Amino acid sequence: MAGSDLVYQKCIRPDCGATLSLDDTSFQCPKCLGLMDVVYDWDRLNVPNQLADFEEAWRTRSNPLDFSGVWRFRRLLPFAPDEKILTIGEGQTLLQKADAIAKKVGMNEGQLFLQYEGMNPSGSFKDNGMTAAFSHASMTGARRAACASTGNTSASLAIYCSATSRMKGIVFVGSGKISYGKLAQALDHGALTMQIAGDFDDAMHQVQQMARRLGVYLVNSINPFRLEGQKTIMFRILEALRWQVPDWIVVPGGNLGNSSAFGKAFIELKQLGLIDRMPRLAIINAAGADTCFQLFNRDGLRWNGGRWNQTVIDNYYHHLDQEKKRANTLASAIEINRPVNLVKALRALEKMDGVVREATDQEILDAKAMVGAGGLGCEPASAASLAGLMKLRAEGTIAPSDRVVCILTAHQMKDSSATVAYHGSDPKTFEEVLGVRGVRRASFANRPVQVPNDLEAIVRSIELYS
Ligand code: F0G
Repeated sequence: MAGSDLVYQKCIRPDCGATLSLDDTSFQCPKCLGLMDVVYDWDRLNVPNQLADFEEAWRTRSNPLDFSGVWRFRRLLPFAPDEKILTIGEGQTLLQKADAIAKKVGMNEGQLFLQYEGMNPSGSFKDNGMTAAFSHASMTGARRAACASTGNTSASLAIYCSATSRMKGIVFVGSGKISYGKLAQALDHGALTMQIAGDFDDAMHQVQQMARRLGVYLVNSINPFRLEGQKTIMFRILEALRWQVPDWIVVPGGNLGNSSAFGKAFIELKQLGLIDRMPRLAIINAAGADTCFQLFNRDGLRWNGGRWNQTVIDNYYHHLDQEKKRANTLASAIEINRPVNLVKALRALEKMDGVVREATDQEILDAKAMVGAGGLGCEPASAASLAGLMKLRAEGTIAPSDRVVCILTAHQMKDSSATVAYHGSDPKTFEEVLGVRGVRRASFANRPVQVPNDLEAIVRSIELYS
C-alpha cells in the first residue's frame, strides 16, 4: 500500500471524474456534489494472481490483520498501511448451507446459502465497513466520529470507539425509531447518543451538516472507505464456496451501502481477472420504504453508463415531500426513504444484471421465522432477503438449480420485540407491535406453552406437545 497517487477518491460520474486525495474527509464530489469512490492504480499495486492466494493468510492468523475477515483481503482494499489499521476481530462470519429452508422455498438441495453477518462483534455487517472507515479516520488524525443510524451503524461505531479507545463516537438516531437492543449498545459502549425528534432521513440530513460544521469524521456509508470494508463480505462468500461465483446475491436494501459495495467488489474482481463471471444481484426493499423498488421498476431509472436521470429522482423525492410520506416498516433497520447510495446501487444493478423487489412486513416476518427455525436467526430487516428470494422463486426469475446466497445482515437478538410478538400468544401484544403494521397472521409461530407450577401438569404438557 501507499502513496496518494496509487489510491485516491474519484467522483462516480464518469463525465465529472473530479478527484480528491486519499486523506480528504468531505466524502462529496467537489464539483458536482455527488458520491465518491475509492480508486486504486491496480497496475502498480500488489494484487494476487488468483483468489486462492488468500488462503495463505489462514496460516498466519496470529497476526490480527490476517485473522480479521476484512483485512485478510487487504490487498483488494489497499488504502491503509498495516500499522494504521484498527481491527477488533470483525468478519469471522459464516456461510451456512440451508437445505431445510431451501426445501421450503422450492430450491434444490445444496443450492441455498445464508451468509451470517450477525456474527460480527457488534452483531451486524456494519463492522466490516466500520473497521475500514475507522482505520481511515485514524489515518487522518480524527478524534471524533459520527453517524446517523437506524441502530446498527450506531452500535458498530460505539463498539469501535469503546474497544479501541481511539475516538469519541457521536450517534444520531430517530427518537423511538430504533430497537432497544441497538440503543442499548450505543449507550453501553459510551457513545454520545443524540435522539432526534424525527426519523432516519432527518438524522442523516442533520449529521452531515453537523459533521461539516464541526469537522467531525462521518462514518455513514456515504463514506466510500466504509464500502471498501463491506466488499469483503463478497470475498468471504467466494472463499467459503472455494472461489466459485454463485448465481445470485440477495440483499436487503436500506441506505444501499451493501448493494453498492457488493457491486464494486465484483466489478473490481472482474477487472482484475480474478473471476470470470458476475453473479446477479437482487435488492429487496421493505414495501413501506421502497424508493429503490419504485424508481427502478416503476420509473425505469437506470445507471445508464453513469448518465442517470437525476430529474426522475428529484421528482420522486418532491412527491414524497408533497404527500408527507415517511418510511414505515417494522424492519426498522431499512426504514429509509432517501437512500444515500441510490446511484451507486444503480451501477451495481447494471453491472450485475440486477433486479429489485419489495416485501411486506408480513412476508418479512414469516421469512424471519423460517430463518430462525432453519438457521441461526436474524433481525427483521435481514429476513427481507429470504422474503425476496421467495418472490423471485415464485415468479421464476430464480430457478431451483441456481446457487443463491441470501445475506443475513444482523443478529436475531438485535430486535426481539417483533420476534416475541410474532411467536407469543398474547393478542394484545400482537396487535400493538405487529397488527398496527398490517401483519395479520403468524403462520410459522412457535407458541410458548403456559403451565402451572406443578410437575404432573408440566409432564402432561410436554407429552402432549413434543
Ligand atoms: N440490514 C440491517 C440489519 C441494517 O442495519 C441495515 C442498515 C440494512 C440491512 C441495510 O443496509 O443500508 O447497506 O442497504 N442499517 C443502517 C444503520 C442504515 O443505520 O444501521 P444498506
